[in-house]
Amino acid sequence: MATSLTLNTPLDMHLHLRDEAMLKLVAPLTAQTFSGALVMPNLVPPVTTFEALKAYEQRILDAASYEDFKPYMTLFFQQYDKAFLEKVKEHIIGIKLYPAGITTNSETGVSSIDSETLRPTLEAMSDLGIPLCVHGETNGFVMDREKEFMPIYESLAQNFPKLKIIMEHITTKDAVELLDKYENLYATITVQHLLITLDDVAGGMLQPHLFCKPIAKRYEDRDALVKVALNAHPKVMFGSDSAPHPKHKKEACGCAAGVFTAPIALQILAGLFETHGKLDNLQAFISDNALNIYGITPPKKEITLVKEPFLVPENYSGEGEMVVPMYAGQTLSWSLA
Ligand code: DOR
Ligand code: ZN
Repeated sequence: MATSLTLNTPLDMHLHLRDEAMLKLVAPLTAQTFSGALVMPNLVPPVTTFEALKAYEQRILDAASYEDFKPYMTLFFQQYDKAFLEKVKEHIIGIKLYPAGITTNSETGVSSIDSETLRPTLEAMSDLGIPLCVHGETNGFVMDREKEFMPIYESLAQNFPKLKIIMEHITTKDAVELLDKYENLYATITVQHLLITLDDVAGGMLQPHLFCKPIAKRYEDRDALVKVALNAHPKVMFGSDSAPHPKHKKEACGCAAGVFTAPIALQILAGLFETHGKLDNLQAFISDNALNIYGITPPKKEITLVKEPFLVPENYSGEGEMVVPMYAGQTLSWSLA
């Protein structure tokens, strides 16, 4: 039985770092264990200009306080012209598309995701090799939102066959099935969606710290996600979607969507992969697949985990901000060495 595990260049390919005091609080928690992270652009206002992008990148580097951490920056999708995209290409890893109003700070997202309307920008991205990261939910019934988005993914995949499309934070077996249907579709999976179902969120007393979008689904959905993650399907990457909100906005009437997992993600994944006898596949899920898909070379970093109990802190706080992690107060079976 394994008692320790070393991971090379762990990557979090979907991360919310926020800004100001929250950024200063959470950035080091990712930077201590990850070599790099793909940073979401849903600030207020969203990151849509070259100047805002570079300034945010610098604030992240200042806050992270680890030199072996690389933030991979993204722009918030809107119609961009090719000359602009040529200029920013070397500074971004992708562009994140949000349907308007679907989640936190997405009000200025796309109101109708139609391949013809979006063609100029998507064609330019395709020509320039800029991946498209997508929050794939409609505004239908909450449990069906991702499933209803599948035809939109199909249309994008067919219309732009050279465009790399990443289905972010997939939560359903429908999304898992679509992965192998189109060469240019990829996916990220979070920690929470590998572990919980809607039962954990709302089956007993309501658990605000497990509430996120897309919401956790059915057992058969979770099983499908666990299967592709454990088998290190080459088109699947780890993306935590760690999304910190201040404690008072989670433990509130009108709870903000987002699960904060940055400081516990690796420990939980080690436990999950070990339980299923698949520890050998964690390296691919946590790093190698992303290296291949995005063609990146992050800073070298080795992180060792040991099979020793880790008591998850009740909260992380600093500069007037306080955020509660998933599994606060619970003991995990793996810790950072
Ligand atoms: O739960 C979520 N929180 N889902 C998202 O898509 C956005 C994120 C956030 O920014 O808080
Ligand atoms: Zn997200």
